[in-house]
Amino acid sequence: MVAQNNLCILILAAGKGTRMKSSLPKPLHSVCGMPILGHILKVSQSLNPAAIGIVVGHESDLVIETVKANLAKWNISAPVVFVKQTDLSGSGSAVKAALPLLQKFETVLVLNGDTPLLLGKTLQDMLHTFTAEKASSLVLGVTVPDPAGYGRILREADGTFQKIVEDADADEDTKKIAEINSGMYIFSSKELQTALTQLTPQGSKNEYYLTDTLSLIKQMNQRVLVFHSADYKQALGVNSKAQLAQAQQIMRSRVAQELMDNGVTLLQPDQTYIDPGVQIGADTVICPGCYILGKTVIGKNCVLEGGVYIKDSTIADNVTLKMGTYVEESTVAENCQLGPYAHLRPKSVLCKGAKVGNFSEIKKAVIGEGSKVNHLSYIGDTQMGAGVNVGAGTITCNYDGKNKHQTIIEDHVFVGSNVNFVAPVTVHEYAKIGAGSTITKEVSAQGLAIARSRQVVLENKGVKKEHD
Ligand code: UD1
Ligand code: CA
Repeated sequence: MVAQNNLCILILAAGKGTRMKSSLPKPLHSVCGMPILGHILKVSQSLNPAAIGIVVGHESDLVIETVKANLAKWNISAPVVFVKQTDLSGSGSAVKAALPLLQKFETVLVLNGDTPLLLGKTLQDMLHTFTAEKASSLVLGVTVPDPAGYGRILREADGTFQKIVEDADADEDTKKIAEINSGMYIFSSKELQTALTQLTPQGSKNEYYLTDTLSLIKQMNQRVLVFHSADYKQALGVNSKAQLAQAQQIMRSRVAQELMDNGVTLLQPDQTYIDPGVQIGADTVICPGCYILGKTVIGKNCVLEGGVYIKDSTIADNVTLKMGTYVEESTVAENCQLGPYAHLRPKSVLCKGAKVGNFSEIKKAVIGEGSKVNHLSYIGDTQMGAGVNVGAGTITCNYDGKNKHQTIIEDHVFVGSNVNFVAPVTVHEYAKIGAGSTITKEVSAQGLAIARSRQVVLENKGVKKEHD
C-alpha cells in the first residue's frame, strides 16, 4: 500500500454550497452533532496521512477558525494545511490551488468536502487497489437509485474507465447511467499535476472540472481505474437541506445498528437520536424520542423512557430515567432514579441510589447516596450527604443578586416540605427542618429547626356568608 509518508489527503471545501440556501458554509453544517468537514477529517485521519490539505474559499475565515478550534476534539493529529482558492471556478481549480502542497507527495487522495458518510475502510481498500494495480488514478464509483445531479461514469466496451460526464452536460442516454462519481479519487501526484495544466473550462458555468483530469491521464496512456463499491450510501453528497436530512438519517441508523449489535434495546431505532461515539451498555432499553448526545456514556440495564435528553454525561448501570428527563454535563451513579421530568443541569452528581423526581432541578450539586429530592425542588450549589430526604417544594436560595453561595446538608437530614435554605448555610447530620421554614442560620446535628411564624386564627374574620 501507499506509504503513509507519501500520502496527502486533500479535502475540497471552498465551494459556495448555493443549493443549501444557507448563510452557514456547507462544510460546517452539522450531521449528528458534528460538522460535515469534521466527519471527513476524522475518516482522513484514520488513514494516518503525512498531511491533510483543506481547500477553503467561501467564508474561509469561519471554516478555518472552526476547524482549528476542533482539531483536538476530533483527534486530528496529522498536520492540517489550509489552501485558499481565490476564484471559485470549479473542483479542478480547487485542486490547482493546492499544487504547491501536493507537489511534496507521491500520492494524493482527493475528497469532496460534502460527503460525510464516507468510510475509512473503503478509502483503505481504494489505496490498496491503487498500489496493487499500479494505477495513476482511481475513482470511487457507486450505483445510486437516483443519479440526478451527479457526474456519471462512462465505461469503454471492455468495462474500463472512459470518462466522467457531469449531470448538467449529460444527454438523455448518459442521464440514464446510474453509476456515479462519488467525488473521491486517488492520483499519482505527478500525473495529476500534468493533467491540471491541461484543464479547460467546461459547461455553462465555465468551470474547471477535476473529473476531466481522469480522461486526460488516460490519454497519457496511464492506468485509470474505477473502484466500485456496493455501499452507495457512503458516497451520498450533501447539496441541499433534504440531502442533509437524508445523510443524518443514514448516519443515525448506522449508530443504532452498531448499538443493537452490542446488545442495546432500541424500541424504535428510527425515532431515537444518538450521536456517533456515544457508548451504551447491553440490555439498556431506549424508548422512542430520546436524544443521547455528545460524549455520553450509559451503563448496562438502564431504562430511558420516552423523550429523555442526555448530553455529555455519564450514567452508570441500572439507572431509570423516566419520561422527559433532561441531563446535561452530569454524572449519575448506579441504581439512581430520575423523573418523570427531572432536570440535571451541568456539574450535578448523583451518588448511588439517589432519586430526583418530578419537576426537580439540580445544578452544580452533589446528591448523596440514597438521598431523595422527589418533588418540585430546586437544589443548586449544594453538597448533600447520604440518606437525606428533601420534602416537596424545597428551594436552595443560592443567589443573592451578586454571588452564588453554597448550601451544605449533611447525612440523614430530614427536610420538611416547602423549605427555603438561604445560602450560605449548613445543616448538620440528623437534623430536622420543619415544613415551611426559611433557614438562614446553621442547624446543629440532630437539632430541630422551625423558622416560620406561628399560626394565628382570628374568630369571625373569615369570609362573610351571604345569607347569615
Ligand atoms: C461533484 C463532481 C461530480 C460528482 C459529485 C459527487 C465535479 C466537477 N463534479 O459534483 O462528478 O458526482 O461531486 O458528490 O467535481 N469546490 C471547491 N471549489 C470550487 C467548487 C467546488 O472547493 O470552486 C468543492 C465544493 O466545496 C465541494 C466539492 O468541491 O465540496 C464538489 O463541488 P460541488 O459543487 O458540490 O460538485 P457537484 O456538483 O456535487
Ligand atoms: Ca456536491
